[in-house]
Amino acid sequence: MAKYVGVLTAGGDTPGLNAALRALGKSAMGEYDLQLIGFYDGFRGLMNDRSVILDEQKLSGILTFGGTILGTSRDKPHRMPVGDKLMDMTNAMLEIYQKHHLDALVCIGGGGTQKNAFRLMQTGMNVITIPKTIDRDIAMTDTTIGFDTALGIATDAVDRLHSTAHSHHRIVLVELMGHNTGWLALGAGVAGGADVILIPEIPYDPAVIAEAILDRVRSGKRFSIVAISEGATSKKSAAEFDVLCKEKKNAKTKEEKVKAEKKIETWQRSQSNKTMALAQELEGLTGLETRVTILGYVQRGGTPSAGDRLLATELGTAAASLLAKEKYGCMVAVHEERMEAVPLEKVVDRRKMVPMDHAWVKAAKRVGTCLGDE
Ligand code: F6P
Repeated sequence: MAKYVGVLTAGGDTPGLNAALRALGKSAMGEYDLQLIGFYDGFRGLMNDRSVILDEQKLSGILTFGGTILGTSRDKPHRMPVGDKLMDMTNAMLEIYQKHHLDALVCIGGGGTQKNAFRLMQTGMNVITIPKTIDRDIAMTDTTIGFDTALGIATDAVDRLHSTAHSHHRIVLVELMGHNTGWLALGAGVAGGADVILIPEIPYDPAVIAEAILDRVRSGKRFSIVAISEGATSKKSAAEFDVLCKEKKNAKTKEEKVKAEKKIETWQRSQSNKTMALAQELEGLTGLETRVTILGYVQRGGTPSAGDRLLATELGTAAASLLAKEKYGCMVAVHEERMEAVPLEKVVDRRKMVPMDHAWVKAAKRVGTCLGDE
């Protein structure tokens, strides 16, 4: 049976990380007599050997705290900033793992962390992962730690914006996080009754949105709420991006590839103010005063919801039992309310997008919400 287990939290913080650490630690120590060593600031702490023994006292009283007591970072083991260079430090991390006589390492994180854990696994480390991200975009799991809390915060924002939009007869665009997927904006949009919901999976046409808003005006509703995911894009932009990607794919020489990549970077930079640009366009098309709220990091902050505490406790304890069984190389996933171990190779290099036949998409359409496409 394993004796010493390392743990780290990596990627963007989310509410519920401490609840997961507590559950993992309490079960690992109490039920299976394992010792837990935490590494600070994600993979960076592992590289620099900055660690702490996570005993009963350290894990006590943290269930309801937001953030992570271990700290986090977005560092990648194979591209670590060292001095002014990016270096592959996976073997240096293996040395620290061996130095501590670790039997396994638990990595709690999002899509990037799953990939980084997989890389460490390939050096010979025993790895188990726990999925967390407010984006809910990790493949092979129904949900992730942090999503439920963020959904509540985002829905509250959509709710609150109704009264001010209504009073001023304005269009209010509320930009929500989600990276390249629309789970958060779609969920909060449906739950908060947004009139228009824009997600990356459904490229939008501003004329279609303007028409939906004008339809509301014609029926006496002089305000509209648009919930827009940070990754949402117009049909025009989506087509431009496709062309650039094809150019990169068809590049024959190294120079052509570098040139194509530069073009993509420049294009991506030009897209950074998409929500503001759409707001201006809608103001022009409808003649209605328009405002933008970018909700930002508040979506990741504060106390985890009851749902996230439950999920984190289930996932943390499930990870502890995998450690006891020495079942490694997998992510603890949620599948139809049950915890299951999914091999990491089935998780990495995939992203869970909103499927067009998802119940939330269908429900949004059925209550007359405009999704920007038709
Ligand atoms: O992945 C979680 C997330 O909050 C995304 O929704 C958002 O795009 C991103 O992180 C922000 O990243 P950072 O914390 O690096 O600014």
